[in-house]
Parts: sequence; C-alpha cells; structure tokens
Amino acid sequence: MILILLGPPGAGKGTQAQRIVEKRGIPQLSTGDMLRAAIASGSELGKKVQAIMDRGDLVSDEVIEAIITARIQEPDCAKGFILDGAVRTVGQAEMIDRVLAGQGRSLDVVIELVVDEKELLNRLRSRIREAEAAGQPLRADDTEETFQKRQQVYREQTAPLIPYYENQGKLRRVDGMGTVEQVAAAVDAVLDEIDAAKAENSAEG
Ligand code: AP5
Repeated sequence: MILILLGPPGAGKGTQAQRIVEKRGIPQLSTGDMLRAAIASGSELGKKVQAIMDRGDLVSDEVIEAIITARIQEPDCAKGFILDGAVRTVGQAEMIDRVLAGQGRSLDVVIELVVDEKELLNRLRSRIREAEAAGQPLRADDTEETFQKRQQVYREQTAPLIPYYENQGKLRRVDGMGTVEQVAAAVDAVLDEIDAAKAENSAEG
C-alpha cells in the first residue's frame, strides 16, 4: 500500500499516519520530520532549509526529490509507505509518479483530510498550550503568524494537488473534523476498500 496523506497544516496527517503505522506496519515518511531532524543535526541540508521552514515557506522540489527518492529505496519501504505531508506541489506529485513508475510501482490512494480553518487554528492553539504546559520546546513554525502563512502556502501551492489526483481517480476525501478515533476509522475504511480492490484485481489478473 502506497498512500499520500494530504491536508492543510494541523489537519491531522501526522496523527493519522501514526495510526496507520501501528495498524498496517508500513513506515511513515514525513518530510517535515526529516527536515527538522536535518536542522537538529546541524547538517548542510539543515542549514539550507532552516530559514525557509521557520518562515512557513516550502523547501525546493529538488531537496524533496533527493530525500524522498533515497528514503523509498530503503528495505522497510518494500511493502509500502505513507507519504505524510511529503507531496506539496504538482512538481513533487509528478516526481513521485515518475520515481514509482521507474520501480514498477504506483500510488494506491491519496487521502485528503478535510478540516475547516477555524478548527485548524484551535488545534494549533491547543498544541502551543500543551507544549507550554509540558515545558517542551515549540516548533519554530508553530506561531499564529507563521501558521497563517503555512495555510496560505497550502492554498496556493498544495491545494492544486486535489484536482491533479482527482483526475487520476486516486483522491478520497475523509472528514477530518471528528475525534482522532473517528477520523482513524474513516481512513481505515478507505484503506480496507483499496486492499479489497487490489486483492480482487490480482485474483482476476
Ligand atoms: P510538516 O511537518 O509536514 O507540517 P504541516 O504540514 O504544517 O503539518 P502539521 O505537522 O502542523 O500538521 P498535521 O496535519 O501533521 O497535523 P497533526 O497530526 O500534527 O511541514 C513543516 C514544514 O516543512 C513545511 O512548512 C515546509 O517548510 C517543510 N516541508 C515539509 N514537507 C515539504 C515538502 N514536501 N515540500 C516542501 N516543503 C516541505 O495534528 C495537529 C494538532 O492537532 C496536534 O496537536 C494533534 O494532536 C491535533 N489533532 C490531530 N487530529 C485531531 C483531531 N481529529 N481532533 C482534535 N485534535 C487533533
């Protein structure tokens, strides 16, 4: 199963990706986490992307291509993987299609988590409150101002992926407004359907 979780900042991509990892045993590929790890390690890549991420912009498609193509060739990705926030421009979507085709594989499904803007802001505020209460450091881009910028970047650069994947017949929308458990159940139902369709196709083929 190769799937993309799509949705604006705060939609619950990371939260749902974790649930899928636990249930299906395929790895979560979060470019946000990979880039934050590069920053924390002080690597050249980290130095290159830190300012871009801190102000809520997207890093270049070339950087994403390099980290994703290397990661999906690792053995734990052989049975599939979850691209969590890892495809954010049409250029990146075309790149993923091309790289997978080169490996004789293809994307199974793109799940869009649909959450309204007011709820996204509520979730950001709770994340800030919880981090402060626990004495944990906040993500540099988790301020209200940068969060608004990230939402704008999503609308301008990432939302065009919705018609892109609709045209491929791969887009499935899931209501992301419920509790974590409700959303997880809806995501799971979509993935079960995809598994069943794949099993039917391979039985026919
Ligand atoms: P990234 O790390 O991917 O962040 P993001 O997309 O901005 O998303 P978030 O992590 O804020 O939200 P999420 O949707 O994962 O929600 P979460 O589960 O955390 O990217 C960061 C930056 O890296 C980008 O701005 C860019 O600079 C760079 N980058 C990364 N990938 C890139 C790419 N491919 N190309 C270019 N640049 C890239 O949930 C949010 C909160 O809500 C949590 O507190 C959670 O507990 C809570 N929550 C979740 N679900 C629910 C629910 N159902 N009900 C109530 N609360 C919930």
